[in-house]
Amino acid sequence: MAIRYIEQDRTFWLDTEHTSYIMAVVDEENFVGHVYYGQKLQYTEGTPAPVYLMRTGEAPFVPSKNNRERVSFLDSFPMEYPGNGLGDYRESAVSIRTVGGHVGVQLNYVSHEIVKGKPALPGLPSTFPGEEDCDTLILHLEDQTTGLTAELIYTTFEKVDVITRSVILKNTTEQPIYLTKVMSACLDLDCTDEKYDILTLHGSWGRERQMERRSLMHGKQSVGSVRGESSHQEHPFIALLSENATQDTGEVYGMHFVYSGNFLAQAELSQFDSVRMTMGIHPENFVWKLEQGESFAAPEVVMTYSSEGLSGMTHHYHDMYREHLIRGEYRDKKRPILINNWEATYFNFDTQKLLAIAKEAKACGIEMLVMDDGWFGHRNNDDSSLGDWKVNTDKIKGGLKYLVDEVNNIGLEFGIWFEPEMISPDSDLYRAHPDWAIHIDGRAATQSRCQYVLDLSRKEVRDYVYDQVSAILHSANIRYVKWDMNRQLSDLGSSYLSADHKEELFHRYVLGVYELQERLVTEFPNMLLENCSGGGARFDPGMLYYSPQIWCSDDTDAIERLLIQEGTSLIYPLCSMGAHVSDCPNHTVGRVTPFETRGHVALAGTFGYELDVTKIPKEDREQIPQQIAMYHKYHELVREGDYYRIASYSENHLYDCWAVSAKDKSEVLVTYVQVLSTPNVHSRKLYLKGFEPQAVYRLEETGETFTGEILEKYGFAVTNYDNYAIAADFNQEEKGLDILAHLDVVPAGEGW
Ligand code: GLA
Repeated sequence: MAIRYIEQDRTFWLDTEHTSYIMAVVDEENFVGHVYYGQKLQYTEGTPAPVYLMRTGEAPFVPSKNNRERVSFLDSFPMEYPGNGLGDYRESAVSIRTVGGHVGVQLNYVSHEIVKGKPALPGLPSTFPGEEDCDTLILHLEDQTTGLTAELIYTTFEKVDVITRSVILKNTTEQPIYLTKVMSACLDLDCTDEKYDILTLHGSWGRERQMERRSLMHGKQSVGSVRGESSHQEHPFIALLSENATQDTGEVYGMHFVYSGNFLAQAELSQFDSVRMTMGIHPENFVWKLEQGESFAAPEVVMTYSSEGLSGMTHHYHDMYREHLIRGEYRDKKRPILINNWEATYFNFDTQKLLAIAKEAKACGIEMLVMDDGWFGHRNNDDSSLGDWKVNTDKIKGGLKYLVDEVNNIGLEFGIWFEPEMISPDSDLYRAHPDWAIHIDGRAATQSRCQYVLDLSRKEVRDYVYDQVSAILHSANIRYVKWDMNRQLSDLGSSYLSADHKEELFHRYVLGVYELQERLVTEFPNMLLENCSGGGARFDPGMLYYSPQIWCSDDTDAIERLLIQEGTSLIYPLCSMGAHVSDCPNHTVGRVTPFETRGHVALAGTFGYELDVTKIPKEDREQIPQQIAMYHKYHELVREGDYYRIASYSENHLYDCWAVSAKDKSEVLVTYVQVLSTPNVHSRKLYLKGFEPQAVYRLEETGETFTGEILEKYGFAVTNYDNYAIAADFNQEEKGLDILAHLDVVPAGEGW
């Protein structure tokens, strides 16, 4: 068992392969305190657990023996799940309101259980044990005054060095309790002189998940979303880094939220320099009424610790998500190389046009055609028809089945776009059911992209949407769905929810989306689902539970993608990042990049095309078969290998470099992208990563050999990088396997 209870010290000791997490119950009042999270500590039977540093022996800190200084205790003790309103002035994990209007709450230990495996969270996406052994600790806590109870749930994923956390709150009294805040996890690190940074991911449409690192100062620093989705703007992730942490060294604590709605991720440096990290549903616009006997399950937090810098954290998350979050047939399977018609045609297409693209795509080796927005209702731009999921036969002449059959006859599979959560004011659905749109009674609802959001808290609305989508999917041989969501929520209101449940809407909405996607993947288990939200606004672990890949960003420019994909791959495996080769000048930024560069950058994701293959320049068209051959050669390595960040364009503003190394280090694919040239400089030295130090690797292109150690410590030279592109292959001599370095150079002065 990776979890032990040490009775004499009332201590819970959770181990993974390289980390330990320790908590203790203290004082006769049974406070649950955080003791330690970090590098693995060896427990020796019979020796005391390291609880002395909790300083409960120091007079002011013992509440039962020093009631007059109770606040001194409450405001400094490292609480595992801090309550609210009673003297701990730091960020609370839970707050409530009773029918009498009181807000105080403090949950203390009652009992615990340790079980094999991992229970699922009702109605929520969550990580699962898979073949690896997991153990789960459930701490039962209670607030005797209000009758609120909590189960704090901890599961150890030993091999990937992850601990997951969630909380189930229950009302055991006869009166309702209103939950006004429920964090899923709190990590209260009792530090003294350590200095920390925090790392978060920020963005906007077209530039999602850019890394941002800053010093942790006194007070609270947070990121969050109140937009009804995890959002383009901030990401439900926060990492605490020792000040000197680098890619490969230093301490990193990561927290990532398996949730797709409003969130708060925060780090607080207290007056005594302890750090309290919290993560959960954002408390703004959140009140949840619990009737007698009812429970509320808070979404899961995936927590990890690395003593090997950011790389260590990245590897933990990549392995965790590949093995314990992504589900379905495509998890371990080659994803089809698709061509999507969005940037090729936008709304201007018909059967003939799509078949022409399909024919040319087939000749290039592409495997699937995806028909994007504009095939239904009378939608010829973005101002109508969402909700009317009926094929527009003026455009799709002959009907959907005819089109799909023809595409299949050409030799391609077929995929389709939906935006099931939305309703256009100009739609038959809205004319029939205006109250199905989220709105505040008596106030004109706010439009965004000319649309409203459907009230998915209502079962009848969910059923309607599901039936529409399912009927289309049954009507033809459709093997892929792109599920889009192109606006954020506003106008917190519902004609359906009563006044004391209205502020449950945003969470109920997310639960509604999860229910719909669960139904979809259950009814169509062999279909590939790709989530999307105006690009990457809902790229989060919650959605990853339903779809093995998510569209990363509407910005398909290869250079912009270096930044977006770097931030995304900090925590997500490459195989989850939707990435396509698109046309130039790029539709978002107008930049021109070599076709080869676009291919190499898209290869660090799911790989596909988003262009009119019948119209692109001949030289580009001719490169597609080579790119496709490259995908066939490396898809498995990219999907399953370890990702190493070697150089970052976001830091050096000149070039970018990463590697993907097979788990046994027998094969390494290094990608280098030169963004800007510098005149009159020596060759560039790259300190490669992901190699076995003593193994000999051969560069296939030239036959040169290197030891892994030399490549990593002495470096690999990129020469003459001013005006050409090369792809170079290494062979590993002893094992006879390929090691590849793709050296990809953007010609100087082109495009900007
Ligand atoms: C969003 C998606 C795009 C495309 C359009 C269609 O912006 O991110 O890929 O599907 O919607 O309207």
